Amino acid sequence: MNPVESLRHGFDGAVVLVVGGRGDIGSAVARQAAELGARVVVASRGATKSGVAPVPGGTAELPVDLTDSDSVKRMCEQLSAWFGRIDVAVNAAGATKSVPAGNLGLLSDDVVHEVFESNAIGPVRLIRGLLPLLRDGSDPVVVQVSSVAARTGQGSNTAYSGSKAALDAMVIAWAKSLAPIRFVNVAPSALENDFVPGRGPDFYERTVAATPMGRLATPEEVAAAVLVAARCLTMTTGVVIAVDGGRHL
Ligand SMILES: NC(=O)c1ccc[n+]([C@@H]2O[C@H](COP(=O)([O-])OP(=O)(O)OC[C@H]3O[C@@H](n4cnc5c(N)ncnc54)[C@H](OP(=O)(O)O)[C@@H]3O)[C@@H](O)[C@H]2O)c1
Repeated sequence: MNPVESLRHGFDGAVVLVVGGRGDIGSAVARQAAELGARVVVASRGATKSGVAPVPGGTAELPVDLTDSDSVKRMCEQLSAWFGRIDVAVNAAGATKSVPAGNLGLLSDDVVHEVFESNAIGPVRLIRGLLPLLRDGSDPVVVQVSSVAARTGQGSNTAYSGSKAALDAMVIAWAKSLAPIRFVNVAPSALENDFVPGRGPDFYERTVAATPMGRLATPEEVAAAVLVAARCLTMTTGVVIAVDGGRHL
């Protein structure tokens, strides 16, 4: 398929998994992929198990907790039974807490563990479990939502920046060792949503002022980058695509 055909038809009947698919970015990915004719599975801790596999243009749900290996294994077993393959795996799950970077006293072991479990170790469990299904996929690709914080060191907390930097580094390793499966990360700057509890108008004003494009990205814009990376950027792997209006510059 050439790039124009990929845009029009790349998702026709494709099996698309969206972990974190009930969140703001994940749900935008799931909606856009279903509109393009994909069979979409939305997975997250709060998801309830659907009885049947989705048809093209439809969506089903499966529960998964990326911090629990058995839970990831169960999701992969169900995906295997439903489809025997995954074409596009999107990881839009993540967790964080707001801790000022200079206040290491507040960055407890519990916060560090939770953040790394969700954002760095969880993706290892996910890719490990999905690998046999991706190997049987059509033009298989993994697109994960990272963060501009991995590059700037400015994020909700230091461990969060570190966990996303770990994810960006692992994607390079996986792109080299697991080709032809492609691995692409998409890195937004702050969105206006509830992902980081406690962010208020002052935070958003400062972020907009530090962003060359002079506004915040939307979940739909991040989702569009995920879909383009998945089906149009067919020679792109092992990279991080910023969707941040130039915030990292
Ligand atoms: N929002 C921002 O400002 C921003 C900026 C840069 C990067 N990001 C990244 O973008 C991604 C999506 O964020 P968002 O803004 O869409 O936040 P969101 O609306 O809070 O969505 C996050 C989703 O992740 C799921 N999740 C959390 N922990 C999980 C786990 N252990 N296992 C499985 N699912 C889990 C949650 O669903 P359940 O509770 O049902 O599990 C939730 O639906 C995250 O990776 C985040 O780091 C966000």
